[in-house]
Amino acid sequence: QHRGGSHIDPIRLVGRDFSDLTKNIQILLGSGHPMLNTVSKYYFTSEGKHIRPLIVLLMSQATSIAPKQYNAAPTDFFQIIDKPLSSSIPLNHNKDDNTSTFSNRVEYSSISSTGTILPTQRRLAEITEMIHTASLFHDDVIDFSETRRNKLSVNMNFGNKLAILAGDFLLARASVALAKLRNPEVIELLATVLANLVEGEFMQLKNMQEHETMSTFEYYLEKTYMKTASLIAKSCRASTVLGGATIEVCDIAYTYGRNLGLAFQLIDDMLDFIVSADELGKPVNADLKLGLATAPVLYAWKDYPELGPLIKRKFSQEGDVEKARELVYRSKGIEQTKLLAALHCEKAIAAISKLPESDARNALIQLTHKVLVRKK
Ligand code: FPP
Ligand code: MG
Ligand code: MG
Repeated sequence: QHRGGSHIDPIRLVGRDFSDLTKNIQILLGSGHPMLNTVSKYYFTSEGKHIRPLIVLLMSQATSIAPKQYNAAPTDFFQIIDKPLSSSIPLNHNKDDNTSTFSNRVEYSSISSTGTILPTQRRLAEITEMIHTASLFHDDVIDFSETRRNKLSVNMNFGNKLAILAGDFLLARASVALAKLRNPEVIELLATVLANLVEGEFMQLKNMQEHETMSTFEYYLEKTYMKTASLIAKSCRASTVLGGATIEVCDIAYTYGRNLGLAFQLIDDMLDFIVSADELGKPVNADLKLGLATAPVLYAWKDYPELGPLIKRKFSQEGDVEKARELVYRSKGIEQTKLLAALHCEKAIAAISKLPESDARNALIQLTHKVLVRKK
């Protein structure tokens, strides 16, 4: 049972802005060094879900018919986008990032009865996916992951040094593309996301549970916001800033993204317990082995206080991982995690429902359901 009207195919709604995503990112990543090319494009040659850019594009479309700021000057992309890059690195035979292909081909942008997507918003969707992928390059090194997207992880295939450097390169090119949007507020939002991603990863690596003001669960949720929801929330907000929306509309976009992002990571943490590695395309049961207590364990801890010491020593003793897993299965931890994710989806729906009715808005509502029932 879907809310938000009859079933809509969100991918059809955003058309070429979405289907050209990988191709456009590969252009942004062009480098004169063939190996850097290969490594940095590695995860873009396999099937990702691309949920973040899809959300950004749908949000752009849904808010294009919402109230605009009085006097909002549309971003002057006609002037900016065709300018070639001024600098080029010596290794580069081509232009730095082949920016000429980012001409403002309006016929590429989806124009439907429900609203339009600006070229700057399409570029934002690409930047969002590049930042996400950069964080995965680094994450797979940190987590010693051996697989992702059903293939060898970038670090396993090319080694840690190249994986880290290629991740940095992705970030750098994403930053160049971001700067070219010529919108300081949008640059600030996405730059803050970069800091948040690192802060989230640090919170996870070195917890400060002695924090008197925060419970373990609050700390977990704050970390979850930092490592996952922040990117979705702030890129949603950035898409509305580019569209010249009112503050109220920007807030709606942010609230939707924040809650959907929290739900997304809660489900991710749940899937780590219940799905096979084959289905997920990446290692499972990884979190306990990494010493991480995610929502299912924290809920189980309430029913089984004996989990406390195991959590504290990060499941480091022989048999800890197995014992914790067993107790999670015996508890209501999995269900409760899903319930909390559902609660955040409700909040996301409540926010987005304030926008004028449109196919894109309804697709964003349906997406919350997909996030909840996804198996990978
Ligand atoms: C995946 O989480 C990882 C993240 C959501 C963010 C990781 C962030 C960093 C490594 C900080 C560096 C940031 C930048 C911008 C380079 P996960 O390990 O829980 O998920 P997985 O199962 O998909 O690996
Ligand atoms: Mg990981
Ligand atoms: Mg990780």
